[in-house]
Amino acid sequence: MSYVHQGKIPPKRHTIFKSEEGNFYYEQLFGTEGFHGISSLLYHLERPTQIKSIGEPKDVSPKIAVAKNVTPRMFKGMNVSPESDFLDSRKVLLVNNDLKMGLAKPQNSTEYFYKNAECDELLFVHEGTGILKTFIGNLTFSKGDYLIIPRGTIYKIHFDTKENVFFFLESHSPIVTPKRYRNESGQLLEHSPFCERDIETPILQEPIKEKGDFLIKVKKQNQITDFIYTTHPFDVVGWDGYFYPYKFNIKNFEPITGRIHQPPPVHQNFEGHNFVVCSFVARMYDYHPQSIPAPYNHSNIDSDEVLFYTEGDFMSRNHIDLMDFTLHPGGIVHGPHPGAMERSIGKKFTDEFAVMVDPFRPFQITEEAMKVEDPTYKISWLDEPENDIKDRLME
Ligand SMILES: [Fe+2]
Repeated sequence: MSYVHQGKIPPKRHTIFKSEEGNFYYEQLFGTEGFHGISSLLYHLERPTQIKSIGEPKDVSPKIAVAKNVTPRMFKGMNVSPESDFLDSRKVLLVNNDLKMGLAKPQNSTEYFYKNAECDELLFVHEGTGILKTFIGNLTFSKGDYLIIPRGTIYKIHFDTKENVFFFLESHSPIVTPKRYRNESGQLLEHSPFCERDIETPILQEPIKEKGDFLIKVKKQNQITDFIYTTHPFDVVGWDGYFYPYKFNIKNFEPITGRIHQPPPVHQNFEGHNFVVCSFVARMYDYHPQSIPAPYNHSNIDSDEVLFYTEGDFMSRNHIDLMDFTLHPGGIVHGPHPGAMERSIGKKFTDEFAVMVDPFRPFQITEEAMKVEDPTYKISWLDEPENDIKDRLME
């Protein structure tokens, strides 16, 4: 991350800072990983600690259907049901101790404020436009945006229409860009597939000085608890530091290509503890005269692999719809579908866009996921017409 400074801040941290009328501004250190991770300093009109009441927690633990999975699976995102509320709409499909992953189709903007007090959030916009309004500024969003929202960010979300689809991750560790693409000062290097100009930071709005009852829904340990605060959460007059939400559009990811097939790490966009996130984007295929653009068969012994298909035509898979998720469990070989390898030879270009997540610990599968599973996927590599496969499953 880069250093960002917005609004009014005092010349020296932790010193007296007052308005022209002589009122104190109240400093808050906002950061992660104790006091050694990245952080920002915020300056509020009011003390940000004024809790009036705390409600009963609501349990939102994902319900596990398959705790130990060895089966390749496909989940039909189009069959995940929309919900009017932003938080209710989050359907966790896959989970382990590091991550939750799922799909959300929220229809309405939030009236309340929300804070994930435990996890960084990655919201990938498959469909929809709107504004992410946070206590340190606003970010507009549209299709293809990754919104990276660090833990502790207080936000509201405004949608322009009811048609919204997000692929989301909640990560117990910070979500960051790959270390190998940054130098010792944190600057993105020349061989990185993106640079600082591709990353958009929030624009601080006029601070709101208002007293009343302000509802912040706080998510922690699979519970959502209603906190009522007496001061408006968006009362920041200025902030600076390295800890803030940002957006990055998948179409700004510059693909790394080669004469022969490049391995998945060239597509890496983000990482956290025990997982990576990759962006598969439109790109030129391999240009060796004898190259095979389709991937070779492979088994990731040490990680599961999940792909979310968001745009274009995915070359190595037959019968994939947009919003589908495929899960290839670690240790089980997978590869192109029948005919896909042959079909790929001589092709020059792909228009596919997909998000891949490789967790290094196996995923458990939730009841929500099983509701939308296509049970024929596991035998979809057989050299048989699809109808024969489906008939056999009926037996
Ligand atoms: Fe794979």
